[in-house]
This record gives sequence, structure tokens and C-alpha cells, in this order.
Amino acid sequence: MLTSIKENRLTNKGQELGMMYFRVAIILFGAQLLMGLIAAIQFLAPGFLFEIFDFSVARMVHINALVVWMLYAMIGSTYIMLTEETGHEGVALGLGKLGFWVLTAAVTVVVLVYIFVQVGAGTEASLWLIHEGREYIEAPRWADIGIVVVVLIFYFNVFATYMKGEKTGIMTVMVANLLALAGLYLAGMVYTDNISMDQFWWWWVIHLWVEATWEVFVGTLAAFALIRLIGAKREVVEMWLWIEVLMLFGSGILGMGHHYFWIGTPEYWWEIGALFSALEPVPLIAMFVHVLYDWGKEQGAHEAKGEAKSVITNGPAMAWIVTNAFGNFLGAGIWGFFHTLPQVNIYTHGTQFTAAHGHLAFFGAYATILIGMMYYGVQKAYGVKVMSATFKSKMGLFLVTFGVLGMTIALTIAGYEQVMIERGEMGATWNAFFTAQQLPWYIQAQLWRAIMGVVTFIGFIYLVWDLLTIGKASQEA
Ligand code: HEM
Ligand code: HEM
Ligand SMILES: [Fe+2]
Repeated sequence: MLTSIKENRLTNKGQELGMMYFRVAIILFGAQLLMGLIAAIQFLAPGFLFEIFDFSVARMVHINALVVWMLYAMIGSTYIMLTEETGHEGVALGLGKLGFWVLTAAVTVVVLVYIFVQVGAGTEASLWLIHEGREYIEAPRWADIGIVVVVLIFYFNVFATYMKGEKTGIMTVMVANLLALAGLYLAGMVYTDNISMDQFWWWWVIHLWVEATWEVFVGTLAAFALIRLIGAKREVVEMWLWIEVLMLFGSGILGMGHHYFWIGTPEYWWEIGALFSALEPVPLIAMFVHVLYDWGKEQGAHEAKGEAKSVITNGPAMAWIVTNAFGNFLGAGIWGFFHTLPQVNIYTHGTQFTAAHGHLAFFGAYATILIGMMYYGVQKAYGVKVMSATFKSKMGLFLVTFGVLGMTIALTIAGYEQVMIERGEMGATWNAFFTAQQLPWYIQAQLWRAIMGVVTFIGFIYLVWDLLTIGKASQEA
């Protein structure tokens, strides 16, 4: 992965730029996991690094690094597929490269400021220079403006290339969806002193990203990857893509009501949120069935022609993308549905149950397929026709997935205990909040989460090691 620039076999500048984005993404992913481990230890030993590296900071860097690495990997994936989809070499990619360096410099400064300035008053100056205090998208305003500029450059690259090149269905969805995705970021930049109003708009970014625009984005990646990796028929995947666009936007947009249950918004959101968010798993199931169905059909077609050989051109990428189909369904569809009705959410709201869902959904729906695209990028960078999984690929996939699933189950148990003790038995008082966290079920669950976090991290090391070496190894093979 690292040497891929020196050894450059990439046929176009877009893919070079894509690999640059992937490298930063994987570093930030590593940073995310380390921060998660620190925060997990602090659940067990609250004094750990107290006043040196507080829980609030570890948690903040953990989830902001998560969002930023995913955005990096999404931009990277887009650049990787740009030329292949449009048949055009790419417009103004030199400017795109400049954008990459500006963004990376800004991200580095923001993270250093988070780490070195840990506590202090929230003032007009801190909004501009330190952070805005909005979970997941905490970048200070100067960085917000920089991000907008860089994203405009990125969007110009994609849009202008699309206009000049071939307009496939996948690219059309991608171009339209990216505009919505980038535009929503603006909703998270308006500051108000009213916490209800602030949360109202903040959800426009968070929910409409992960339950609408990001889902459609990974739909385009899955469609592209299935064509490239197993030779799926374009008409079939594009048809499903359009159906998903329709369904996800339909349920995802009004499904936002499931965050408007208890923040001071009008009560009509209860019914709207409950109904539409409950429908959200439907397209996820469709996507899941579709991937497996296509897969079986392609296999059958090849077998019928007497081709016994595997038709997968990139084993590890395909394995991660299949994991995505399962992960999206489980993390977003099932774990999301669990707590999406107000009758349930009144008990589960803001417990570790939410964290269980957050982990499995972000991992299953996004981390998986983005890692798959990284493998695709590596394959291109080293110019190998067929890239098979190595022992390291398998260990990476297995340990990371097993670790995240383990954490999810542990957190679900912790959440269940909170629901029962804190909410059900003790009536959601301040005292109940602390009592629930001191009981053995909760503490043991947190211990298991930490253990499973370590498993995830070991898997991550295998993953990076594999990404660094698999290209060369496949060339030699
Ligand atoms: C890949 C898609 C998804 C991702 C990445 C995701 C992620 C998250 C995260 C991180 C939170 C916690 C937000 C916070 O910090 O307050 C959350 C909350 C929530 N999610 Fe999702 N989610 C996804 C899809 C879904 C779906 C499909 C449903 C419903 C079927 C759903 C239902 C909910 C609900 C009800 C909450 C609020 C929990 C609470 O009240 O504490 N999510 N989601
Ligand atoms: C080494 C592995 C990891 C550990 C030990 C870990 C630990 C943690 C901890 C302690 C928190 C704070 C929870 C709280 O405030 O109650 C957290 C939050 C979060 N983590 Fe992780 N994490 C890990 C990996 C991941 C991965 C792989 C993802 C997703 C791809 C992820 C996504 C999140 C999200 C979305 C939240 C916010 C959840 C919420 O507020 O509901 N983490 N994590
Ligand atoms: Fe949501």
C-alpha cells in the first residue's frame, strides 16, 4: 500500500489520489481504535489517565476520527472508481491533490488541538478555534470552512469528470447523492444557543448521513464492486441501486423522527419517526438478499459454462463486501430496529444499547465496504489481475469482525442491565444512573467490551500488515 506510489502501476491520477486518501484513512482508523481502547479502560478504571487524557477527550477523538477516516475512505473510493466508471481521465485532479494536502494539514492541526487543549470555557473564540461541541462533527469553525472548500474541489473533480465522461447509472446516483451528502454538512455548521434547535439540525447531518446519503453512497460502491469483482450484470445491480435510492430516501428522511422523541420537538414526530424508521430495515434486507442472490446467480452461470475456477478477481475485497451485506443488515437493520419505536426507546435511549447499535452499524455498514475498496485500490496499484486472500487477510477480517461483534454483544448486555435497573426498577433518577453502573453485570460487560476491543485491535494490525504486503505478494505469485 505504501510503496504503491513509488511502484506506480496505476493507470490514472484519480487512483493515485484515491490511494493517498486511503493511507490517511487507515492511519486515522488506527488512531480511532487506540482512543476507543483508552476510553474502554476508563470505564473500568475511572482514574486511568485522569486529568492527563480525560474520557471526554478520548471519546471525542474516537468518534471524530471515525467520521473523518470514513469520509477520507469515501473520497478515496470515489477517486478510485471515477475513471473506470466514466471512461474519462479526470478533470482538474491536480487541484484535487492540493485539496488533499490542505485537508490533511487541517485534520492534523485539529486533532493536535483536541489533544493538547483539553478543558476550558466554551466561548465564541473556542467555537472558532477549538471545537463546536457537536458530537461526531466537532471540527472548529475555521476547519469547517476549510472542509467546505476542499469538498467543493472534490465535488468539482467528480462532477466535471462525470459531465465529460460516460454517464452510467452508478455515476449518476453518485453525483446526485454526493451533492446531498456534502450539502448536509452545512446544517451542522449553524450554531444556536438553544439546545433543542441545535440537536434538531445536528441530526440532519448525523442521521441523514448514516441513514440516507451514506447508505446510498455505499450502494454505489457495492454496485461498482460487484461488477468489477465478480462480473455482475450492470443492468441488475443498477436496477437495485435505483430501488434502494427510492426506498432509503423514503424511509430515511422521515425516519429522522426517531431522534425527535425526547428533545423538545413536537409530539407528532413520535408517530412519524416510529413508522418510517421501522421501514428502514426493508431496503437493507433487499440489499442483503440482492448481494447474495447476484452472487449465487453468477456462480451458477459460471458453473453451467463448465468454468470450475473462482471468478472473484479480488478475494479479500469480496470477503469484506459480503461482510458489509451482513453487517449492514445486522447493525443498522436489526440493532437499529430494536430501539426505534418510542415505546422501546423511552427505556433504551442513551444507554449502552445505543452504543452497541452505533458500533455494529458504523462497522457493518461502512467500515467493511470501505476496507473492501482499499483492497481494490491496492490491487490496481500493483497491477495484479487476480488477488487472492492471504493468511493475514483472513486473520484481519476474522479478528476485526469477531472483535466488533463481541463488543456489540457485551454492550447490548450492559444496555439491557441499564434498562432493567436504571430505567425499569429505579425510575431513571440520577441515583439510578450510577447504581446501574456499579452492578456486576454492567462491570463484567464493560470488561468483555475491553477484551473484545483488544481482539479488534489485533485484527487491525493484521489488516494493515496485509494491506502493506498483499500487493507485492500477489505480483510475485
Ligand atoms: C448504517 C446505518 C446506521 C448507523 C451508522 C447508525 C448509527 C447510530 C449512532 C452512532 C447512534 C447514536 C447517536 C448518538 O450518539 O446519540 C444511533 C442512534 C440511533 N439509531 Fe442508528 N444508525 C444506523 C441506522 C439505523 C437504523 C436503520 C435504525 C432504525 C431502524 C436506527 C435507529 C436508531 C435510533 C432509534 C437511535 C437513537 C438511540 C437513542 O435514543 O439513544 N439506526 N445510530
Ligand atoms: C478497539 C475497539 C474499540 C473500542 C475499545 C471502543 C470503545 C468505545 C468507547 C469506550 C466509547 C464511548 C462509549 C460511551 O460513551 O458510552 C465508544 C463510542 C463509540 N464508538 Fe467505539 N470502540 C472501538 C471501536 C469502534 C469501531 C470499530 C467503531 C465503528 C466502526 C466504533 C464506533 C463508535 C461509535 C459510533 C461510538 C459512539 C456511540 C454512542 O455514543 O452511542 N468504535 N467506543
Ligand atoms: Fe437515525
